[in-house]
Amino acid sequence: MRRKALLSMASAASVLLCGATALYATGALGDSSGNSSRTDLLSGQDWSHLAGAKVSNDGIGVNGLGRRIVQQDGSGGQANPPVNLSGPRLRVKGSFSVTATMAGVGSTDGYLHLYDSAPVVYDEWRQEPPGLRLGVEGSRVRVDVWDGRSDTARTTKRFGTGLSDTVTLTATVTGTTIKIRANSADLGTVPAQGILDSGTVLFGLDGTTGRPWTLKSLTAQALNGTALRIDQAPSPTVEHTDGTLRTTAAGLTRPFGIGTALASGPLLTDTVYRTTAATQFSMITPENDFKPQFLHPQPDTYAFDEGDALVRFAQANNIRVHAHTLVWHEALPAWMRALKTPDAVEKAMVDHVNTVAGHYRGKVTEWDVVNEPLSDEDADYTNGNRGLRAGRNPWFQALGEQYIDLAFTTAHRADPDADLYLNEYGAEEDGERWEALLALAQRLKARGVPIDGIGFQNHEYEKGDRTAAETFRRHVRKLASIGLKARISEMDVILGEGESQDVQVRQFVGKLDVCVEEPNCTTFGLWGFTDRYGSTSGVGEYPLPTGNALPWDEDLRPKKVYSALLERLRG
Ligand code: XIL
Repeated sequence: MRRKALLSMASAASVLLCGATALYATGALGDSSGNSSRTDLLSGQDWSHLAGAKVSNDGIGVNGLGRRIVQQDGSGGQANPPVNLSGPRLRVKGSFSVTATMAGVGSTDGYLHLYDSAPVVYDEWRQEPPGLRLGVEGSRVRVDVWDGRSDTARTTKRFGTGLSDTVTLTATVTGTTIKIRANSADLGTVPAQGILDSGTVLFGLDGTTGRPWTLKSLTAQALNGTALRIDQAPSPTVEHTDGTLRTTAAGLTRPFGIGTALASGPLLTDTVYRTTAATQFSMITPENDFKPQFLHPQPDTYAFDEGDALVRFAQANNIRVHAHTLVWHEALPAWMRALKTPDAVEKAMVDHVNTVAGHYRGKVTEWDVVNEPLSDEDADYTNGNRGLRAGRNPWFQALGEQYIDLAFTTAHRADPDADLYLNEYGAEEDGERWEALLALAQRLKARGVPIDGIGFQNHEYEKGDRTAAETFRRHVRKLASIGLKARISEMDVILGEGESQDVQVRQFVGKLDVCVEEPNCTTFGLWGFTDRYGSTSGVGEYPLPTGNALPWDEDLRPKKVYSALLERLRG
């Protein structure tokens, strides 16, 4: 497979939010109108793991991260403001109000975001869930309403004037309208359109980059006899289950990792996703949360919160983390791509690798240090680039092949105990990509670069991408002969028109066989495990399309390929 393609498959998916423990309940008590007393959403709740937020006695300081999602070619920049996935969720069916007191606004912009579910976040797109954003922009109140059918807000309204310093905003959600108040004055309404009907509200905070504001208080109130309660995020620890992929693999003569990519959104909001991940897998790869555009949004700003949540989950369930990825030409924040001189590019890369690998030192077992260094352009295989990607790759453009050496030596210094991998796609089969990859690996070894292994992504996006297990086995053996480990890092198999699940069974089990039998294969890893949220489902579509490429279906039920994998591990 040469070029990356993301297919789009239409079919509806519903995002479920379920399963957290209740902290306390209120609701029935209240005044004669049937309204409950106000419930505090700050004290006793976790706001310390919200990216960009700093909890103090004064309230919650909010510094806008300016976090944006770029297209594969580096263009665009969809806003990706942080969601407090580790924090409180309001459970309410019916009318309610939320009141926020914001200090320090006026001279800076501040926003409170209410979501009815966690956004599904891809590398180049965030599926914006139904929700409401309430804030002070300039000296006015700004309200945006997303209806779950588009990236852009369906309604944007500005109200009032002359607001500054400390502003108390209330949104009252009743049936078809949301009433907006500022400092006790009614400002008007926006249409509700059922945006907060799921029964759950998650919260997010955002603002201007570098000019923080403070959230002084945040409360919710149930109206007209509605019941309301606040749940905390679920505990990361999941009860152990026997007879799963991970427990069966652990019984092999030479155990190896059973891996999956994992995303923080579903992990912290979907109980079945979380339980399946913990019970079935012994190794996880952060799907997107460790990529530079997510954790390094500004030159001097890192935001490790979502990544840290994945690590906490792994630690709580005795799962190893294969971290992904330090140096890649995609998913870069705009500032990284805008650097002008080779020196600036080199410095940014070294600082990034040092800081990120340093932050996760001792918490992850492996890194994809360099991702996808091979080119998609035929010319790069004959023009002296030795098959390395030059176009849109700022690292190669600034440093040539040496960028790979530098990335590995820097990562090794920052985390000497981690196994360091180079990860690539389309090299499972014979051909110029494999030859270029092997030659590169040989050069790196000859130069004494601290590389431990090669990851084979094994994406099969179309019928033509099917590869033979025996060819792959030869590649794995060849790497063993030069002292390198190998892993299947991102396997998924999209079924084409007319193909049955037997095709998946053959592909997945064929590759698993190789991993069981070749002593230098360290992990059999999937790129996600359920068709509900997959990178192979589709980008930019509402409702979120489901895929067909993975062993669990969109309802998190195991498919034929799951049973076949389990069977193979049982021997
Ligand atoms: C994927 C992400 O999972 C998606 O969210 C995104 O839409 C496309 O990229 N190779 C890699 C992964 O190394 O990081 C990519 O992840 C898939 C291809």
